Amino acid sequence: MSALKNKRILIGISGGIAAYKTAELTRALIKKGAEVRVCMTKAATEFITPLTLQALTGNPVHSDLLDTEAEAAMGHIELARWADLIMIAPASADLIARLAHGHANDLLSTICLATDTPIHIAPAMNRLMWSNKATQDNCKTLAQRGFTLHGPAEGEQACGETGAGRMLEPLELAENVVAKFSQEKTSQVLTGKTVLITAGPTREAIDPVRYITNRSSGKMGYAIASAAQRLGAEVQLVSGPVALEAPNGVTRTLVESALQMHDKTLNLAKNADIFIATAAVADYSPAQFAQQKIKKKKDKTKESLTLELQTNKDILSDVSHTFPNLFTVGFAAETENLIENAQSKLKRKKLDMIVANQVGENKAFDKDTNQIEIIWADGQQSLPEQTKTEIAKELMEVITERFSAK
Ligand code: PMT
Repeated sequence: MSALKNKRILIGISGGIAAYKTAELTRALIKKGAEVRVCMTKAATEFITPLTLQALTGNPVHSDLLDTEAEAAMGHIELARWADLIMIAPASADLIARLAHGHANDLLSTICLATDTPIHIAPAMNRLMWSNKATQDNCKTLAQRGFTLHGPAEGEQACGETGAGRMLEPLELAENVVAKFSQEKTSQVLTGKTVLITAGPTREAIDPVRYITNRSSGKMGYAIASAAQRLGAEVQLVSGPVALEAPNGVTRTLVESALQMHDKTLNLAKNADIFIATAAVADYSPAQFAQQKIKKKKDKTKESLTLELQTNKDILSDVSHTFPNLFTVGFAAETENLIENAQSKLKRKKLDMIVANQVGENKAFDKDTNQIEIIWADGQQSLPEQTKTEIAKELMEVITERFSAK
């Protein structure tokens, strides 16, 4: 019953007679504990109604890229991020070709292009379409890009012919999904460990309507939280104000100011094994909070306004000094002298590791990609520019290795 508990699966359905079997696949995945959402191509809706899938999943079915109502409820990018796994069944020859060529001409192909989530496909088509070199080459391309193919099976086909091209049976596909997740489980090296992460910006209030903040979107920290969760850790995420949903399986505490982030983090650090500080915490905050909105000066000769700022507590430094046994990882966001400045922060803040992050000129802050240099006392490793999801995964592998060595 619970083999897929807490797993979010997005089922994609393309146009083919096997689409009717997807209702059974949906039921099987839900029975195993998964939360399922469905995205259908227009052609798929000719073979099975969205209403059937909606009734089975209890969620609205997504099929139109330009549906403003559906986009407002859960946009396609959000849907792409929501899933732990995407299973396209049946995957028609046409959809396979579009995916292989990176098309984004309907909702399903757009989601596949806009996600880092593992994509599984269960091809289903006439045997000659399947054996055609075009389809075979497209499948090879997808496999090289990390897609997982299931089947097709051999046997009698809906068109009356016999050969390879039948979609795998729904129960077999559901078992393959379970096997995929349990395979992941065996590599859950952080099971039993707690990883504490700060992410996003902080807001330092000037008066009831104004604040000082920065450009951090939280994407880097949230990607690290997901990567740590996938490694089996219990993840505590202390986040400043961002537009992101809490990652699946992660406990999130929302805060606003640096002081609030400081107090929550110090409190949670007592029970943590690893602390990763990705947040862009404000170094200064207004020395005084104006109880009323600061009015514009009427005297034109006195147009400037001076705000006195005070230094905020350093969360990372306080954590590493209060909990010397905790494995602490800092980030150094630098516009110049990247490595030198990062190394100095590593020592000054008494850290086990620091991630040097070149920022400015449209880099790192609020971007989907990043490029980092990981530095520890007697080692260094570069991660070239890639998505923050990929960076997070590789960074967590390095952290886990160093943590185990400590
Ligand atoms: O959120 P994104 O848009 O995805 O962008 C990601 C990022 C660029 C914000 C992230 O990758 C990053 O570099 N985060 C660190 C930002 C930062 O404030 O760096 P810093 O060099 O000023 O601070 C050094 C370290 O001390 C950081 O780990 C920071 O979290 C921590 N710090 C700083 C000040 C403070 N008062 N308390 C802290 O804990």
